Amino acid sequence: MSRQDDLKQMAAAAAVDRLQSGMVVGLGTGSTTRFALERIAELIRAGRLERIIGIPSSIQTETAARELGIPLSGLEAHAVIDITIDGADEVDPDLNLIKGGGGALLREKVLAQASRRNIIIVDASKLSERLGTRWALPVEVVPFARAAEERFLASLGAAVALRTRNSIPVLTDQGNLLLDARFGPITEPGRLAAQLSGRAGIVEHGLFVGLAHEVFVAGAEGIRHLQRNG
Ligand code: 5RP
Repeated sequence: MSRQDDLKQMAAAAAVDRLQSGMVVGLGTGSTTRFALERIAELIRAGRLERIIGIPSSIQTETAARELGIPLSGLEAHAVIDITIDGADEVDPDLNLIKGGGGALLREKVLAQASRRNIIIVDASKLSERLGTRWALPVEVVPFARAAEERFLASLGAAVALRTRNSIPVLTDQGNLLLDARFGPITEPGRLAAQLSGRAGIVEHGLFVGLAHEVFVAGAEGIRHLQRNG
């Protein structure tokens, strides 16, 4: 395992420590969350976590959780989630996030908004003074609106790229397209989020403003625990 994987695993273990038997747990998406899934499964097998119900944020996570033997359900049965554990692409000092590197931003945000508590797990490379410095902002658009929303994002100053894999457009779990909008450092994430949310063709965007309650950051000096003020 690489050093970065070690760090991801450490952050994941710290977050999973917060879980208690009987909780409904939102399961994020990505390589860091994968370590959390493995840890949850390990604690279930050891009898240290009982009656856990996982709500997956993507087909990828659902498949992995099933393989690991984590009991799953959906929001129709459990509309309120106790704790969601998820990764992030970028974290600013106010604990605002860019998410969606794995393309699951819509369902991840649905889970985050349905959760009493959101715990984010990252390695130290994800910290950034301003969102957008290191990462393009993923924006999920309906295929019908692609050209119009590309133009709109460009009008806001972003360099826009359609996300592809092997030259084929990536489709989200909803069958939508992803535009990666490179804004550079974003000075007012809340304002940009509102502008994007006002567009009919934009299904969701990867700015998570005011949603993370705490972040576990694993780095060379160990785990840092950041909590949102207010
Ligand atoms: C998926 C996400 C992921 O949480 C984010 O991309 C971080 O992924 P990783 O843990 O693999 O670095 O938002 O949509």
